[in-house]
Amino acid sequence: MKDNFKREINYLRISLTDRCNLRCIYCIPQEGVPLKPHEEILRLEEIIHLVKVAADVGISKVRLTGGEPLIRKGIVNLVRVLSKIPGIDDLAMTTNGILFPRFGPELKEAGLTRVNLSLDTLKPERFREITRGGDWEQAWKGVETALELGLAPVKLNAVIMRGTNDDEIMDFVELTYKYPLHIRFIEYMPIGEHSGWEERKLVTQQEMLGQIEKQYRVQPVMGIRGMGPAKYYNLEGSRGSLGFISPLSSCFCAYCNRLRLTADGRLRPCLHSTQELNLRDCLRSGASNQELAELFQTAIKGKPERHTMNEEGWKGRARFMQQIGG
Ligand code: GTP
Ligand code: 5AD
Ligand code: SF4
Repeated sequence: MKDNFKREINYLRISLTDRCNLRCIYCIPQEGVPLKPHEEILRLEEIIHLVKVAADVGISKVRLTGGEPLIRKGIVNLVRVLSKIPGIDDLAMTTNGILFPRFGPELKEAGLTRVNLSLDTLKPERFREITRGGDWEQAWKGVETALELGLAPVKLNAVIMRGTNDDEIMDFVELTYKYPLHIRFIEYMPIGEHSGWEERKLVTQQEMLGQIEKQYRVQPVMGIRGMGPAKYYNLEGSRGSLGFISPLSSCFCAYCNRLRLTADGRLRPCLHSTQELNLRDCLRSGASNQELAELFQTAIKGKPERHTMNEEGWKGRARFMQQIGG
């Protein structure tokens, strides 16, 4: 279904939990965030019900996020059921990879089509600092598992922060010569009051690409499987590719195709929205599928033309990234 700006909305990102087994500095404040009680979180059968309705209004791609989606109990069965819903032809996940060696094989067998893994550094000590205690070796095993399972294209997400990991851009580029990995450099976004964001820490796509082009021949490329916001480039002789997700320097909102469902069942028309629709309470009070479909349509029609992060930052917004799922 199209929104008011002629954008086809066919991608639903679902946060399965607001909990996480890491505490990345740009995502979660040191002291953690108040977690929602279990009864406020959508049950698995509620998620399945809502995805069936979403498929009826034209959603064909679902991405499971968190917090960390793999700490949600019953994840494999959820994937098994969601992957069989008629109309859903791409069922992907974004994870920090720590638990992927354990769940990857079963998830693939259950119907997961793709996985994106967050990895902001290739240095174990730095990983511990960025994630406040995470084990890099474990996260890397997650990447290896995804490659071994052939869940191609395997994409790595690296949020680049000046003074933290911007000295590793070339190391990530090198990695695409060793492995068939698609590295996506993400501009650091001011999401959540405590994301530690400051303008001086933002490294723009232009700056990163400028640095890379001094040493490598890069060519824009279309058609790396995925329907997200990244712009991709081929590197001569490489086994993978580079992607840039640049919401601040080159807003991709004109091509936006997605809605978000928070773990507590709110439908969010935009990552940066101030409005949310309470699907959970409607579902729990017995709304019909027709009424739920109308809520999806209202969210689609209510999508703003673009985010206003550059102008407003996160001012006045109550959520943390961990609760929205990226
Ligand atoms: P593909 O289907 O593989 O293209 O995935 P994706 O890029 O849509 O998903 P992923 O979860 O890997 O997201 C990567 C980064 O893009 C995260 O930092 C997200 O927050 C960011 N992102 C995804 N959608 C949007 C969006 O609509 N607006 C903004 N500003 N950022 C987004
Ligand atoms: N800016 C940019 N990307 C972020 N992510 C989480 N917080 C931020 C932020 N402030 C990314 C994670 C993950 C994805 C779901 O969102 O690194 O890859
Ligand atoms: Fe967890 Fe992802 Fe947030 Fe890191 S970015 S703390 S892995 S939800």
